Amino acid sequence: MINIGPYQLDGQAVLAPMAGITDQPFRQVCHRMGAAMVTAEMSTSKADLRQTSKSLLRLADAADSEPRVIQIVGTDPAEMAIAARYHVDAGAQIVDINMGCPAKKVCKKLAGSALMKNPSLVADILKQVVDSVDVPVTLKIRTGWDLENRNAVQIARMAEDIGIQSLAVHGRSRACRFNGLAEYDTIAEVVAAVNIPVFANGDIDSGQNAQKVLNHTAASGVMVGRAAQGRPWIFAEINQYLNPLPKNAQKTSTNRPGCFTAWQKGLIIEHLELIHDYYARFETQNLLHRVAKRSTINKDQAIDLAVKISRKHVCWYFNQMVQCASNLMKEHTSDFSVATSSCLVAENQAIKTIEIAKKQFNTLLVAKDQLQFLKQFFSETNLKGDIAA
Ligand SMILES: Cc1cc2nc3c(=O)[nH]c(=O)nc-3n(C[C@H](O)[C@H](O)[C@H](O)COP(=O)(O)O)c2cc1C
Repeated sequence: MINIGPYQLDGQAVLAPMAGITDQPFRQVCHRMGAAMVTAEMSTSKADLRQTSKSLLRLADAADSEPRVIQIVGTDPAEMAIAARYHVDAGAQIVDINMGCPAKKVCKKLAGSALMKNPSLVADILKQVVDSVDVPVTLKIRTGWDLENRNAVQIARMAEDIGIQSLAVHGRSRACRFNGLAEYDTIAEVVAAVNIPVFANGDIDSGQNAQKVLNHTAASGVMVGRAAQGRPWIFAEINQYLNPLPKNAQKTSTNRPGCFTAWQKGLIIEHLELIHDYYARFETQNLLHRVAKRSTINKDQAIDLAVKISRKHVCWYFNQMVQCASNLMKEHTSDFSVATSSCLVAENQAIKTIEIAKKQFNTLLVAKDQLQFLKQFFSETNLKGDIAA
């Protein structure tokens, strides 16, 4: 069982913060799919940017699952401390500090992962943030500044001494950005060096993979980012792999990985509805913080934003559907007895149909058209394994 301050997590797999992706609707969907903790997209600590719609949309939300985790990014210790307090007042139950983001925009101000180059500044930021709030403060880091300067262990020890209550370590250095494969040796060293929970992060995309990383690092849990895009059920898959149900209690719906079943289609529709609803009610929504009333985008702009955000997520779902049909094709191609059968033709056709639908979806300009299109597509198109049955 993983404990962060007073919060006991129900599982070992958590959602990684991803700017532009882990908005409130996506967090809700991932939590429903078994993510034990979900973190909001990073929020700048700059006070003068607090009233922008981007910042307002990144506040803790009443509909978020508990613990409500927000992430702050910045370079100035006093400013970071004020930002932490501001978010706690707005309903955050855990404050996470971003020292993992390699984005140029962030790093050129020596924020995000660039901070790892300056351990004394890191110490100052951590101390001031921990002292400023009475909720747990957590930290997300990379393995170091570059491959020659992997100082994650030093930063982790220091963080624990200062009072940081859990760590997430992405198995790449800042210089690696997203290139190459994540390495887990440094994460294992961090785990061995501290007594607080550590989440291993980087390239985890299946239950089997999660188990391997946990075995290798002895981390308390895993943090999953990109693999959840278009595939939020990865958390259910990981949970089931790590804690298999007795055979007779297994749900048949998750028995064939890669196939789109009715509940998955239902979840996608629900995700779309959540996005439309969340952004449409942006001006008056049930954010925990009163300042949301001073939102800088109007209702039409908010709805427009919802349509654009929906495209991104639905596009990922379509890509997963293509992947699902391709997997089935591969399965059947390797099975000599069905290699020439109609299965391959059907799967090939399914891929074409999905690609066309993806293009059509991207031309839709109105939320209700998006919803209607997707509902109709799912009712008319059989994307399950039974295409090939
Ligand atoms: C589009 C995108 C946005 C990200 N935004 C953030 C962020 O806001 N804060 C953060 O700490 N890390 C951010 N990250 C890094 C992820 O949290 C995670 O560490 C990284 O993607 C590696 O995990 P993965 O291989 O499971 O994706 C982002 C990554 C991506 C791909």
